[in-house]
Amino acid sequence: MSEPVRPSYLIKGARLVGAAPTDLLLRDGAVVATGSGLDGRGAEVVDAAGLVALPGLVDLHTHLREPGREDAETVESGSRAAALGGYTAVCAMANTSPVADTAGVVEQVWRLGREAGLVDVQPVGAVTVGLAGERLAELGAMATSAARVRIFSDDGHCVADPRLMRRALEYVKAFDGIIAQHAEEPRLTEGAQMHEGEVSTRLGLTGWPAVAEEAIIARDVLLAEHVGSRLHVCHVSTAGSVEVLRQAKARGVRVTAEVTPHHLLLTDELAGSYDPVYKVNPPLRTAADVAVLRAALAEGIIDVVATDHAPHALEDKECEWAYARPGMVGLETALPVLLHVLTESTARGLDDPALWELVAERMSRTPARIAGLTEHGRDPALGVPANITLVDPAARRTVDPAELASRSRNTPYAGRTLPGRIVATFLHGEPTVLDGKAVR
Ligand code: DOR
Ligand code: ZN
Repeated sequence: MSEPVRPSYLIKGARLVGAAPTDLLLRDGAVVATGSGLDGRGAEVVDAAGLVALPGLVDLHTHLREPGREDAETVESGSRAAALGGYTAVCAMANTSPVADTAGVVEQVWRLGREAGLVDVQPVGAVTVGLAGERLAELGAMATSAARVRIFSDDGHCVADPRLMRRALEYVKAFDGIIAQHAEEPRLTEGAQMHEGEVSTRLGLTGWPAVAEEAIIARDVLLAEHVGSRLHVCHVSTAGSVEVLRQAKARGVRVTAEVTPHHLLLTDELAGSYDPVYKVNPPLRTAADVAVLRAALAEGIIDVVATDHAPHALEDKECEWAYARPGMVGLETALPVLLHVLTESTARGLDDPALWELVAERMSRTPARIAGLTEHGRDPALGVPANITLVDPAARRTVDPAELASRSRNTPYAGRTLPGRIVATFLHGEPTVLDGKAVR
């Protein structure tokens, strides 16, 4: 029996980042021809006039909730949300139930991702058994498993014990792995409900001080420097953290950092609504922090935008602030939020190639490089794997939680109108999204 012929696609007239409009012919998972007026006989034609063609987006920080909380999200529903958001690869965080702290669980998540086939799901392994912060998990077994884990994180919890953190950094050095830290000194955030500052004082809520994040980052860059290993800092949220990272990078420490879309846009003032949709960890900070984070992202002190997509079931979110779980969904809104932030803070328009260059760098090329996902983060060109996102820069859309593909609805952007529409996403040469709708 011969192999079934895979369909080919001709993307017509897409604007590549920093280049003139071109046609792209996709076949067998790769870009097999580029140029203008390509003859796509037998290919399905996708009209991309006026659209920007980005390398498929890559998220270093996604919570998929499977196994364990399939009511909030599954690998498949989260993958669909990711594809609709323009992503072709996501790193799935380890705080599932059971925790992804063995080869068995990371292989299960990896296999579920393959079966869904909507995005490449790269499991993150836990640093410590059960995220309990006491014993190192089987990092080597996860690294050599079919899931080929390279990033380890206890995200949701901080690896607070400096001796364990040091040993984890030493362990992953052998295979150039990364420890991704959720930087939160737990002794400084006991009972914390929101950012510690003027607003928390006014509202009478226990504060989460900036120094609880900054102290851990400072400690960890020193440990990473001492060991010579790679450290990644999750969801950086304060101006002080940026200063610590700036100094570490200037010294050549192997540290990378991410910021979430919500920390680039929203502030602690929103806690005044007592609407738990704004409860997140780390908490929303001040307008002054937001300004510094934006500048650090433009400058490269912060390397990537990562969603921290954190779906939660209704009963875990629509309750009193103190009882609500922290987290926001983000996969389907990340790019529009970033476009909004960049147009607001850099005075660049959506017709400016420099803006798209920054988007490609911070949301695709750099995260792919950090995660070692060699088939992702590459601009469409001859012979390159066809992981591509087509965006309409002229469209604006109003976020409607009822329309999200995620199983959860906890978006802080309901009713907001944001720029940019993800028109199509191609994964290994085949569409997962067309006309803004999931293909499956
Ligand atoms: O807000 C958050 N939600 N921050 C985290 O670190 C964990 C995440 C979750 O799993 O819900
Ligand atoms: Zn976290």
